Amino acid sequence: MTDPQRSLVLVKPDGVRRGLSGEILRRIEGKGYTLAAVELRSATPEILAAHYAEHEGKPFYGPLVEFMLSGPVLAVVIEGERCIEGFRSLAGATDPTVAAPGTIRGDLGRDWGLAVQQNLVHGSDSEESAAREIGIWFPELSA
Ligand code: TYD
Ligand code: MG
Repeated sequence: MTDPQRSLVLVKPDGVRRGLSGEILRRIEGKGYTLAAVELRSATPEILAAHYAEHEGKPFYGPLVEFMLSGPVLAVVIEGERCIEGFRSLAGATDPTVAAPGTIRGDLGRDWGLAVQQNLVHGSDSEESAAREIGIWFPELSA
């Protein structure tokens, strides 16, 4: 038996704008993960600087932050055994054009000809990232 994990998922502004929040939550719940927190939020430059600290200085960083500020995001904490890896698998590859069919990005995403990849969702990539990111978005949930 493995202990349940928590992961930070974001439905990015493109997903919220396109009305895909419900579809994405349905896939998470369909997989058997539970929702520990769900909140429609406006990101701030401060939150995004912390959230995307690992990407600071990369060429896509500026456009990425601008995109993430372009509308509300749905901030979600999911829970379940191996849900960190499991949600990354549900989300699919970073580039939605080549993400496998059956995944959120593969089924619902594409290249819209914009500088930044609008790939619908974020999911924590490790236990350390999950703890850090939940602390950024939902400090009240952090021990
Ligand atoms: P990354 O953490 O590498 O991808 P993932 O979301 O799959 O964990 O990158 C964070 C986000 O930055 C990614 O979702 C979309 C954007 N991005 C670009 O716009 N261009 C790029 O070349 C990369 C690698 C990421
Ligand atoms: Mg990442």
